[in-house]
Amino acid sequence: MRLLDGQVALVTGVGGGIGRGIALRFAEEGAAVALHCRTAAGAAREAAARIEGSGGRAVVLRGDLTDEDTCRRVVGEAAEWGGGLDALVNNAGVQPTRELPGMTADEWRAVVDTNLSSVFACTQAAAEVMRGRGGSVTHIASIEGSAPAPLHAHYSASKAAVVMHARAAALEYGPSGIRVNSVSPGLIGREGLEQAWPEGVRRWRAAAPLGRLGRPEDVGDACVFLASRLASWVTGHDLVVDGGVTARPPW
Ligand SMILES: NC(=O)c1ccc[n+]([C@@H]2O[C@H](COP(=O)([O-])OP(=O)(O)OC[C@H]3O[C@@H](n4cnc5c(N)ncnc54)[C@H](OP(=O)(O)O)[C@@H]3O)[C@@H](O)[C@H]2O)c1
Repeated sequence: MRLLDGQVALVTGVGGGIGRGIALRFAEEGAAVALHCRTAAGAAREAAARIEGSGGRAVVLRGDLTDEDTCRRVVGEAAEWGGGLDALVNNAGVQPTRELPGMTADEWRAVVDTNLSSVFACTQAAAEVMRGRGGSVTHIASIEGSAPAPLHAHYSASKAAVVMHARAAALEYGPSGIRVNSVSPGLIGREGLEQAWPEGVRRWRAAAPLGRLGRPEDVGDACVFLASRLASWVTGHDLVVDGGVTARPPW
């Protein structure tokens, strides 16, 4: 028996590498997967076709998750398609860079609305569907939630809040059988990253005890664990997936 056989899962933001990696790992472990995207419908459809080509079940759902009603609609469509919802992975997010002195309130709000408020709204909608039969919610946070990077104050603050939302939600939804956790990845490799940021990638490799960048499936594996029966007594936890970078003393 695979780890997620019989589950219906919704993964948001599958147009990006990490969301795609999570969705594919969920399908490999037997989940029927609703793949959410906003603009990247081609990438989402390609991932869905790959799942179906391997004998799995997949559907593509679209919407801008900065809108609360859209969050409710997307969660509702996933549950209707799957005949219920067992797992939600809140992965969609933005990572713009901006220095604090010049940051506008709109720029701040755009990051908080996308990375944090969507997590609140999607989780609330999913919990309504899961109430009675239980389920799991996993937020994709970041190690920048505890170790901020320059030009990322809005991002780091939003990710710290996402971790705290998971802990608070674990308290309130636990009695309904709903577990809520977060995963905090370190730097995850993607096509072109090494060319675009050779110095950063070199520094990361040197700092990581495991000597490499993360892969989308590293994050996917952590999410599979948290959604599976292996984590049935795990809630309110932040699982750091960073090759050991944050284990290093800062001096
Ligand atoms: N990459 C890393 O090294 C890293 C490290 C730690 C944490 N993370 C976190 O991991 C998650 C995925 O990262 P990634 O690198 O795969 O990012 P990405 O390639 O930029 O993909 C993020 C996805 O989020 C979706 N999205 C953005 N704004 C949205 C909105 N308003 N409504 C709905 N969907 C929206 C986008 O959808 P469309 O493309 O369909 O528009 C996009 O496909 C993010 O939460 C990120 O903060 C990433």
